[in-house]
Amino acid sequence: YRVDTGSGDPQDRQVRVPPGVTVFDAASWNGIAIDSTCGGHGTCHKCKVRVEGDALPITRHDVKTFTSDQIAAGWRLGCLVKATRDLRVDVPPLTTRPKAATVGVGRQVILRPAVQKRYVELDEPTLADQRTDLVRLTEAVTDLEFTADLHAIRRMATVMRQADWKVTAVLVDEVLVDVEPGDTTDTQYAIAFDLGTTTVVATLLDLATGTPVAVASMLNKQQPFGGDVITRISATMMDPSSLGRLRDAAAATLQELATQVLTEGGVDPASVYEVAVAGNATMTALALGIDPEPLGVAPFVMSVAQPPSVPAADLGLALHQGARAMLFPALGAYVGGDIVAGMLASGMDRDKRCRLFIDVGTNCEIVLSDGDTILSTAAPAGPAFEGGAIRCGMRAADGAIETIKLGDTVELGVIGDVEPKGLCGSGLVDAVAELVKVGLLDASGRFVPNDDAASVAPALADRLTAVGEERVFVLHRPSPDAPPEECVYLSQRDVRELQFAKAAISTGWSLLLEELGLEHRDVQQVLLAGSFGSYLSPASAVRIGLVPKLPVLRIVAAGNVAGEGAKMALLSRREREGANLLLEEVRYVELSDRPDFNDAFVDQLGF
Ligand code: FES
Repeated sequence: YRVDTGSGDPQDRQVRVPPGVTVFDAASWNGIAIDSTCGGHGTCHKCKVRVEGDALPITRHDVKTFTSDQIAAGWRLGCLVKATRDLRVDVPPLTTRPKAATVGVGRQVILRPAVQKRYVELDEPTLADQRTDLVRLTEAVTDLEFTADLHAIRRMATVMRQADWKVTAVLVDEVLVDVEPGDTTDTQYAIAFDLGTTTVVATLLDLATGTPVAVASMLNKQQPFGGDVITRISATMMDPSSLGRLRDAAAATLQELATQVLTEGGVDPASVYEVAVAGNATMTALALGIDPEPLGVAPFVMSVAQPPSVPAADLGLALHQGARAMLFPALGAYVGGDIVAGMLASGMDRDKRCRLFIDVGTNCEIVLSDGDTILSTAAPAGPAFEGGAIRCGMRAADGAIETIKLGDTVELGVIGDVEPKGLCGSGLVDAVAELVKVGLLDASGRFVPNDDAASVAPALADRLTAVGEERVFVLHRPSPDAPPEECVYLSQRDVRELQFAKAAISTGWSLLLEELGLEHRDVQQVLLAGSFGSYLSPASAVRIGLVPKLPVLRIVAAGNVAGEGAKMALLSRREREGANLLLEEVRYVELSDRPDFNDAFVDQLGF
């Protein structure tokens, strides 16, 4: 994206999204604001962008919006252009100050943040008018009621007098947190955090316009304590000092990201008045310094489902002195605030369609709504999708094979376009799905005998070989005569690992479907959420049975919905309230104690 901010100095930004995501969504997920009042639905005709390179499809909306010369020059409506290859997109400056913002999966949010600023010109006190400074201010702000915190009261007298009684009242959740000299209503920011076990993402939001200003992500600094929530909980059980250190690590991660987005956006930390944090129950507990041990042992009880709002400083954040932090409520120990945020961002509580939401990860969270009832559950999928327990597995980083097509040749899509080093989760799913498709893996997940391989896929048969005793399929040879152990390959055991992971997940959603008396075909949309889920190939996910057997068009990459939910909570108090309502609406279904779980699991193992 080449973003013209109107300052005369366009910014170049590179983003990576799953194929098929619109240019508008790709921008919005990555903190790039494109004009819009319809929220990406193709009706406002404001999301004008210019796409360079080969001619793109033209829609009737483009024809209505642009002249033929503009169309020839690459102008299109950004919400109708899909990124199916690398694109270079010019984004013009924003023309309107929006009253609504587009967030999450096409959600339009009317701007009504908890942070409110009001510029007022006050009457100077006289002997005849001896109202206190605070009464003077509360009476001047006619549309809001509020109380004041001590910091604001301390500053008030000086600021009002020095600023000649022209001041801006800063309110967070109906509390006056500051009085600023002059009119500062255009300067109000918040930061949305997706506090993941592996990766943490921060988005700096301009609350005056609802637009994202900068996005940054980094690995959670708690990594040295273990890769998943269970190892981090165990760390606190083995060494009592770990809780404090884990909390410090969370704080350091949040602060470093805050500094990054503020620097990138050129925003003063003192202009950030609120943050929202969407994390799973363990990450939330650790960030607040709450002992997570009960989350790790049966009966898996949380200290609190709905954490109170706290000063942002309690999370280690150096922002405005009165800045507050809201932490998303959780449905249970294993369906946490990140999933509640995801439900909010994808409108699971609003949509009347039958929808299935799957956040694929080590712990996979599943939500099913038939338009009336919403059920949720968690399935322990294990580390396979993150490259763990897979021989050549790796995280989705440079060198990871992320897409695979098998035919007469092997076509690999590699992150960063470098020499393949390993296989990430989406590559793993593709590899197995393609091997099933060409007939080299049978329905039970076993590699077929070599003789059969030669007849079903002659061009690929020589790739079916062995490393030690174990049969493997070679995906990439670094040199023509490299021995299999030096290659990137998929082993028989890797296939088993994937089978267990996908069976855990598909058992989860199939039991939820059963609970509501629904069939596969009743599901109108499957939302694949999270950093891994979004990159899965829908066709491969269907082929291996990770999602119900549905036309691929019904399977949608939802992006980082936890982060989007956190943005929504900052932009709208009403939406924030919606997150709390979800706690009452959603019923959690415990799978592990169901008598039919094992049979269902075994049924789901095959392809
Ligand atoms: Fe309104 Fe594209 S966002 S038409």
